[in-house]
Amino acid sequence: MGTLLKNQNVLIMGVRNKWSIAWGIAEAAYDEGANIILTCQGEREREGVEELASQIGSSAVFECDISRDEDIERLFAEVKGKYGVLHGVVHAIAHAKREDITNDFIYTSREGFAHALDISAYSLLAVSRAAKDLMTEGGSIVTLTYMGSEKVFPGYNVMGVAKAALEATVRYLANDLGRLGIRVNAISAGPIKTISSKAIKDFGNILGVFEQKAPLKRGVKQDDLGDSAVFLLSRLSRAITGEVIHVDCGYNIMGV
Ligand SMILES: NC(=O)c1ccc[n+]([C@@H]2O[C@H](COP(=O)([O-])OP(=O)(O)OC[C@H]3O[C@@H](n4cnc5c(N)ncnc54)[C@H](O)[C@@H]3O)[C@@H](O)[C@H]2O)c1
Repeated sequence: MGTLLKNQNVLIMGVRNKWSIAWGIAEAAYDEGANIILTCQGEREREGVEELASQIGSSAVFECDISRDEDIERLFAEVKGKYGVLHGVVHAIAHAKREDITNDFIYTSREGFAHALDISAYSLLAVSRAAKDLMTEGGSIVTLTYMGSEKVFPGYNVMGVAKAALEATVRYLANDLGRLGIRVNAISAGPIKTISSKAIKDFGNILGVFEQKAPLKRGVKQDDLGDSAVFLLSRLSRAITGEVIHVDCGYNIMGV
């Protein structure tokens, strides 16, 4: 056990199952001494997430559908009641309608576009606004993005647009919250197999090319992302805010 996050209350949003990036982060933060608070999207996911929580000594699982303001308000009221102070928040939530990541981008509907941006980008703003009132000792907010915001990955489509909005949101939030001692950063993760990524057309191909081209000649693992998130949550990164940090075995630096 390390002590980088000892006595830190860290809220982790986005655990769906043991393959979730958020779960890798929860394990890594727990290993560094954090008190982990988890959320799940709804009743359907609760049992599975509670089972995972029990593995890291946490009985705190709160339901929060991020598309509902009342859920966000209730979540932070409950967390405040039980913990008082929050030191870290991990936002690992994104969603697009299936047709919008299987058809060509040009056919994205108005509704599908709004949905992807609402769940995957606006939600960070809503969560940060609620979290700041509990981050009375300063804090760190970490979100997850993907290089599809910078370059075209066919099939990633509207999610690429949502991730570009998410990254801009990180910078504007960092500016607003810096004066409160709250930092906001994003990890741009290399591709990793999860329920969400498997829904993307051609994901298998993206993964294969990645492993060949990345300077480190391997794929990204859950614990790579977990450890980087711990760094961003901890005082080791105390002068870093508003950044998008690639944790992708170097893939993003390559031209061919
Ligand atoms: N897997 C990858 O290759 C990859 C790469 C880069 C970035 N990311 C990002 O990492 C984050 C986590 O994704 P993952 O790959 O671990 O997949 P995942 O499916 O395990 O996690 C996605 C989570 O989003 C939650 N979610 C979706 N809609 C929600 C809503 N309305 N309310 C509350 N929660 C909701 C799901 O319940 C799930 O827990 C996402 O932002 C994703 O875009 C993933």
